Amino acid sequence: MNSRPTIRRIGIFDSGAGGLTVLRVLRQSFPGVRFTYLGDTARLPYGTKSAETIIRYTIQNAAFLLKKKVELLIVACNTASAHALESLSTFTQLPVIGVIKPGAQKASLISRNGSIGVIGTQGTVSSGMYRKFIHQYRPNAQVHAKAAPLLVPLVEEGLVSGEIAEGAIRLYVDPLMEHGIDTLVLGCTHYPLLRDTIGKLYPGLNLVDSATPIRDELAV
Ligand code: DGL
Repeated sequence: MNSRPTIRRIGIFDSGAGGLTVLRVLRQSFPGVRFTYLGDTARLPYGTKSAETIIRYTIQNAAFLLKKKVELLIVACNTASAHALESLSTFTQLPVIGVIKPGAQKASLISRNGSIGVIGTQGTVSSGMYRKFIHQYRPNAQVHAKAAPLLVPLVEEGLVSGEIAEGAIRLYVDPLMEHGIDTLVLGCTHYPLLRDTIGKLYPGLNLVDSATPIRDELAV
């Protein structure tokens, strides 16, 4: 499946362990590639920090991975992808892939009615990047974005199902459902761990996470 045979080492980072959801899919799809993963758990969360801080952390993470001789960088953190990709491209000549554009593209393609919800950290939602890229692929889409700050700590606590998780998910997703969304972007690397619970609460809703769109982008 790997159509970039010249790339043998890929560096991937997230603000914590959430990006392992992306790494798992990539490892399965590209067995010939060696992945180096950096989870910046010491400075988690990124989602509540300023754009300047996120840019600084992102450059530091990239510098660490460049020392490992990686040939391509994947920013598996939505918040870092939202704020720091431009700065990263001036820092390194290496190809850099962020999670937002591929996720926005997939959501634009699979939505039937063009009403697309996005949940993410405060930083990701306030950046407006999902909205921007969804409109690039589907100019008439209705994008309804909501910051979902309780979901990362819930996942960190292992509360991915049950009454508390369901209540928090409903708090954020019910208002989006009232807008008639048929597709929901899980715009944070922690959220795929809530996928089963979200799917149970909203059967028939398309769920787009970061992992498969990144895999598809890498396979081009
Ligand atoms: N990894 C972050 C993201 O995808 C979520 C956790 C955090 O706030 O750092 O946006």
